[in-house]
Amino acid sequence: MSQEIMNRMFLADGTDYGLSSVIAGRSGSGKTYLMTELINDALKTAPFKEARIIYVSVKNESYWDKVKPTYDLDELFKTLQKSRIGVFYPTDPDMYEAELDSLIERTFLVSQENENTSFCIIVDDCNVLDKFNSTSRPSKMMTKAAIAGRSFNIKLTLVVHRIGNLPRILNSSLNAGIIMGISPMDNDYSKKILALDLDPYYDSLNSNKYSWGFADLLTGDVTLYSPFGE
Ligand SMILES: Nc1ncnc2c1ncn2[C@@H]1O[C@H](COP(=O)(O)OP(=O)(O)OP(=O)(O)O)[C@@H](O)[C@H]1O
Ligand SMILES: [Mg+2]
Repeated sequence: MSQEIMNRMFLADGTDYGLSSVIAGRSGSGKTYLMTELINDALKTAPFKEARIIYVSVKNESYWDKVKPTYDLDELFKTLQKSRIGVFYPTDPDMYEAELDSLIERTFLVSQENENTSFCIIVDDCNVLDKFNSTSRPSKMMTKAAIAGRSFNIKLTLVVHRIGNLPRILNSSLNAGIIMGISPMDNDYSKKILALDLDPYYDSLNSNKYSWGFADLLTGDVTLYSPFGE
């Protein structure tokens, strides 16, 4: 896979490419699978030598069979001292936002103590979170991570079902996205919200299962790719 795609999706390198990223596609379109494979590839490359990946799954599901998930933030950050991937499962639906905020806050503290380490916080199924929609503001820490994260080598990767799920305040903090099977409404949202025209790619993305497009959100360019592994 191209280094540029891996960097732009998951590497917090302090540049414009270090801004947050998004993965959008309907349920079952292959978002979590592709994300997992791309990270596995990325971690083998030099730019990711000092990278830490924090994967948060509100569905309590992970394709990293060899990484033991934790429900405890202390344990998560202890794990990250030795391993490059940490999997965190929030447990109480009433506390999803609070737990995620604590996780982001801790990441800011840890990043200041480890200036050479970059952090990518992947929040899968963000659309489940309260206030994670186009008309609300997401939590303060999530906003901080998206807006100020670049200077702290922290990147957010937001995994959503609909492009329309993205809170508008985050739009200008995104550098790139991966688009998978989408609905026609996503095309409209995408044009309006991200200035990204997906009309030419809609049929291909929907007729080729697990295929995907890399969207450069700084230029509006989209490149289509076959399903991972084919
Ligand atoms: N490139 C692929 N090759 C083979 N199988 C795939 C591929 N991508 C996804 N799958 C399979 O398709 C199923 C759905 O994929 P995945 O869980 O990644 O979807 P998702 O978009 O994350 O769905 P949800 O939004 O419900 O979480 C899984 O069983 C996964 O193993
Ligand atoms: Mg998924």
